[in-house]
Amino acid sequence: DKKITIAIDGFSSTGKSTLAKQLAKQLGYVFVDTGAMYRAIAFFSMEHGYITPDFFDKETLINSLPSIRLQFKFNAELGFAEMYLNDENVEKQIRTIEVSNYVSKVAEIPEVRTKLVEQQQQMGKNKGIVMDGRDIGTVVFPDAELKIFMTASAQTRAQRRFDELVQKGDQVTFEEVLKNVEERDYIDTHRSNSPLVIADDAVEIDNSNLNREEQFGLVLDLVNEVL
Ligand code: C5P
Repeated sequence: DKKITIAIDGFSSTGKSTLAKQLAKQLGYVFVDTGAMYRAIAFFSMEHGYITPDFFDKETLINSLPSIRLQFKFNAELGFAEMYLNDENVEKQIRTIEVSNYVSKVAEIPEVRTKLVEQQQQMGKNKGIVMDGRDIGTVVFPDAELKIFMTASAQTRAQRRFDELVQKGDQVTFEEVLKNVEERDYIDTHRSNSPLVIADDAVEIDNSNLNREEQFGLVLDLVNEVL
């Protein structure tokens, strides 16, 4: 059986992880949400006081990178892997709006990216993987057999993220979430180190007006063309 690498990139809250998860399950592949890794480092920085609303001590964060161990551990009950930071399950802690507000600043640091990209390439060296993020098709796996780039309007994405946060009981306003989505778009597309760009050979999917089933069918067709 031929095993391929599938790279899914795109703006925040386009449903990349949902699609990647569904695809990995269908194909019996490993699913890796690289955003969780950047989020875990942002969470670590907040916990240690390296990043606060007033300052960001990048130097100390960079020096502590060797002491940060990230692992994905499969949770059979949930059917997907959860993020562990130095042996602690941080799956819940990394999905808050606070972490979302800081994560793109952490993801700009070249030393952070180098560490995570290396680990991601290691995880995918045997193929049979669906990885989602911002730079998977461009930097992590430029030779991926299938690259998908997902977009949707900022309004649509903010609404999805807002509904998710409210469902979890987070006290947020739609305006706050929309502002966060727009700010992250800006930082992610403007950073000098691996900015969010569409790979030349990526297939772009705008899912503003697609439901999950329609989108999944479309992507399965793309997979079957490559397999
Ligand atoms: O995918 P998610 O929204 O959880 O990612 C959180 C943030 O992590 C992004 O806004 C981006 O700044 C950063 N990120 C990145 N490169 C990746 C994945 C995420 O820079 N491959």
